[in-house]
Amino acid sequence: MRPRAGPPATWRLTTWPARHGQVVGGRTAGTNIRVSRSRARFFARRDGTSAVAADSRMRAAERLEHAHALDGAASTLTGLLRRVLPSGGWADVLHGVPFGQPVHPALTGLPLGFWTSATVLDFVPGSERGARALIAFGLASTVPTAAAGWADWSALHREQQRVGLVHAASGACASTLFAASLLARGTGRNAAGRVLSIGGLAAAAAGGYLGRHLAYSLGAGTSHAEPVTHLAPLGWHDLCAAAGLPDGRAVRRQLGYLALVLIREGAEVSALADQCAHLGGPLHQGRLDAGPGGSCIVCPWHGSTFRVADGAVVHGPATARQPAFEVRVSDSGMVQVRPRKPRQGHAERSRQ
Ligand code: FES
Repeated sequence: MRPRAGPPATWRLTTWPARHGQVVGGRTAGTNIRVSRSRARFFARRDGTSAVAADSRMRAAERLEHAHALDGAASTLTGLLRRVLPSGGWADVLHGVPFGQPVHPALTGLPLGFWTSATVLDFVPGSERGARALIAFGLASTVPTAAAGWADWSALHREQQRVGLVHAASGACASTLFAASLLARGTGRNAAGRVLSIGGLAAAAAGGYLGRHLAYSLGAGTSHAEPVTHLAPLGWHDLCAAAGLPDGRAVRRQLGYLALVLIREGAEVSALADQCAHLGGPLHQGRLDAGPGGSCIVCPWHGSTFRVADGAVVHGPATARQPAFEVRVSDSGMVQVRPRKPRQGHAERSRQ
């Protein structure tokens, strides 16, 4: 492609790395030529990619991560939610602790499913009543969905919260448009109702994109400790001298490049991954607490509480079990660990 001498003033510009012939959106060092965005899209499609569109969506989401203007609202809402939903009880249910995974992503399928079905029915003659019922069910299902979402949002990092606020605003916009659609259909303005539904679905899709950015790019909702037992080599490993462990206090020890938190209570030693499953907080800086089934460790960042014997979640926001290790003390007084097998309980551990 030949570089242009100068694009028309009305063109919106993007960059094109000339040597590689691939649109990457203007951050690449080296020789770039300037082409119109529409032309870049044309060549991206010709190459069988949609790199420009994907890159611009991703950059828009990344810009939100640094939107400091949202911080005031985020702090006020966080304070409010933490007062309304203290740790335990309903907060645990909304996080998904009893289910072992976050409930908000699962619940989002309800309004999206109802509303998508209603919009499809709009193209089927004689389905007006069905479409109205589906919109109403979708609106009703936003109540638990939003409640679970706000509970999770209140225990996120600030960058995640900024994206989460716009994600929530998109959801609110979608709900408003579908409520208006239902109202319009109720007063006989079906055509207006259909248009409002399509607008609502577009807003829900934008919110869904940000939700996936939160979950997959920013790691909200995934376990941040999962790789530990996966990476830990098989077999028993010497860790440290048992005599060097303080009684009743959590300490951090390294197993190669993996960080573990060790808790000694009398002759009993427990070991968990040190990186909290919720968002990676340092568990060795947390406090020990009595809990159901034995001692627990409370994460210093957002208060997730794990049973030290097996890493079970006692309180959220974490929903994934904290990876636990079997521990034994050798005749020479050396603490040895190996990854705990699934479902290996405290009783079995004590027999060893
Ligand atoms: S990092 Fe959030 S509770 Fe541990």
